[in-house]
Order: sequence, then C-alpha cells, then structure tokens
Amino acid sequence: EMPTLEQCFNLADFEAVARRVMKKTSWAYYSSGADDEITMRENHSAFHKIWFRPRVLVDVENIDLSTTMLGTRVDIPFYATATALGKLGHPEGEVILTRAAKKHNVIQMIPTLASCSFDELVDARQGDQVQWLQLYVNKNRDITKRIVQHAENRGCKGLFITVDAPQLGRREKDMRSKFSDTGSDVQSTSGDEIDRSQGAARAISSFIDPSLSWKDIPWFLSITNMPVILKGVQRVEDVIRAIEAGVHGVVLSNHGGRQLDFARSGIEILAEVMPVLRERGWENRIEIYVDGGIRRATDIIKALCLGAKGVGIGRPFLFAMSAYGLPGVDRAMQLLKDEMAMNMRLIGCSSVDQLNPSLVDSRGLGVH
Ligand code: FNR
Repeated sequence: EMPTLEQCFNLADFEAVARRVMKKTSWAYYSSGADDEITMRENHSAFHKIWFRPRVLVDVENIDLSTTMLGTRVDIPFYATATALGKLGHPEGEVILTRAAKKHNVIQMIPTLASCSFDELVDARQGDQVQWLQLYVNKNRDITKRIVQHAENRGCKGLFITVDAPQLGRREKDMRSKFSDTGSDVQSTSGDEIDRSQGAARAISSFIDPSLSWKDIPWFLSITNMPVILKGVQRVEDVIRAIEAGVHGVVLSNHGGRQLDFARSGIEILAEVMPVLRERGWENRIEIYVDGGIRRATDIIKALCLGAKGVGIGRPFLFAMSAYGLPGVDRAMQLLKDEMAMNMRLIGCSSVDQLNPSLVDSRGLGVH
C-alpha cells in the first residue's frame, strides 16, 4: 500500500515513496553516494551524536523561526540546495522547487546543471523571491564569466562556487544504471565528448575545471557584485583561507556524500571550525552554512546552535518532488516548519538568535 501525501509525516516517508515510484536509473542518480557511501550515511548519523540541553520555564508561546541569509529574510533557516537534473524525478523539474520555495519564503539555489534552463527558473520567480546560483566552473572562463554575469543581471543574490568536485565522485549505483539521456542542457562543446557509460553524473561533468584554485578567487570577486560563497569547504584551515580571500561565506559540505568517501560530515566540520573562529574573534566575518544529512528540524537546530547561519537540504526535496510534485515539496517544507516550531519550544527558545552552543551537548562529536 502506497502512503498518500497526508500519510507522509516526515522527510523519510517521502524517500520511501520516491524509491518505489521513481525510475530505477533516476533513483540511482539521486540516492547514490561515492564509493561505499560511508560519508553519505555518516552525514545524517553524525547528528545522532548531539544531544540537547534544553532550558525550561521560558516563554515560548510565540515562536519566530525567521532569520537572514546573505541579507535576505527567510521564514526558516534552510534553503533548497542545488541538486542537478530535477527532471529525472519529475517532468516539470526544478521549477517545482522554485514554487515551493516561494510559498515558504526560503531561498532556492539554482544548480548549474539544472534540467530546466536557468532563465526558466528565474522567470518562475515571483515577487521579491530570492534565488542563488550554484556554479561549476567551466574550463572556459569566458563561459563562466558569462554565466555569472547573466545570473547577476537576472537578480541572483549569491554565487555559490562548488569547490569539492574537481572530478566527479564514483557513484557506483549510478554508474551501473548506464545513463542514456540526462535531460540537461549541458555545457559540453560537443556531445561526442560525453561518455555515457559512466552514469549520469560523469556524463554531464566533463566541462568542470580541475585546475580551479585559490588563485582564481580574486577573479570571481572582481567579475561580480554578488556575494561569493565557497560550497564544499571541509577544514578550518580552508575556512580561514576563505575569510582571508575575502569571500562572503562557506558551505561546510561534502556534497551529500557524493564526492570523497570518508569526508567528514558538515556538522562535524562545523564543530571544528567555530571554536577556532571564536578564538580569533572571526565568527562574524563570514556566514557559515552546513549541508548534508539534514532530515529533521532538530538537525537544523543543532547546526544553528553550533554556529551555522543556515542549512542546505538536498535529497529530501528531490524525493518529495519525485513522489508528489509541488504538493510533496510544499508538505515537506511545512513539516519542517511544524517540527522546528515544536522543537524550539521544547528546548526553550522562541527565536533563532537565541540558539547557542550551551543548548547542545556535542561531546559525542569528539573534542576539537
Ligand atoms: C547534489 N549536489 C550538488 N551540489 C552541487 O554543488 N552541484 C550539483 O550539481 C549538485 N547536484 C546534486 C545532485 C543530487 C542528486 C544530489 C543528491 C546532490 C549536492 C547538494 O548541493 C548538497 O551538498 C547535498 O545534497 C546535501 O546533502 P543531502 O541534503 O542531499 O543529504
């Protein structure tokens, strides 16, 4: 018996439905992680090592989940992160995420490798809705520059450069499913260069520049006025370097466990990073985001307690979209809002600016 939308009570429920209704190749692309998928599994289970130290007797009648991300006010501290190839899950593709993000007043990060065209996703924006661009840097910097400046001209409010993917990881489930049609308007110069025997991910990623380095960062800062954020930073030394390079933020992330297996979870990296930044008095110099394995509002709260400005959520929205289309993503986002309001009450916080390290016991992550 397939659960109805109303019978989905948490994000895991959508995943279970998606697994049953999706095409096998599409499921393989969305659900896979690199190599043995140890990092993918750990992304979520790392949150299980953090416990709450709630406050009691705090007035929690009214709860305000709102915050700002790169200057934009949002209803709740998550964004829909960039996930490629939305049409593998639903014929309408990422535009469904655009609409759901509008409804819940959260930000959508548009992937370079969206199935819908960039302009289609921007055109789908309503009112003062905010979108960011995720960038895979093309070997041809003229193309990269054009993409970035076009995004800025079309009103994107943040440039997230993916730095954890000089080569796409081996996602063996995906490779086994022998991809034929990716449905993406890819940046390859000629279709002949695409090796389709290696799965969807590898088929579309040959344009990505593995020579990208810190030396390129000033150039990015010079070609755009959008805030520049590095997505996929994994150690405190690189966070410091990012701050020194003048970028506006980092996403502590391992790409949903799809790149380096045995990369640590974003939440674990956060626990390493924040004490060092606080020691230097640098904790407010950039905005720090975390993604990977966020499945419950308690995960969001834990990340904020440890110092994240917000979190990115990937697969859960893809699965909700694949299972039920827009109503699915709408419900998934609403469930997170309901869960978060309840859990904020239960830990004794009425607004997100009250979240702080004293509210969690993160000794299980190890001492840094
Ligand atoms: C991704 N992710 C990703 N990241 C990126 O920078 N560019 C991309 O094109 C993609 N594509 C993509 C496709 C799919 C199917 C997945 C699942 C993920 C990584 C994504 O932005 C994010 O880091 C993770 O998805 C976060 O982990 P969860 O929420 O999926 O556990």
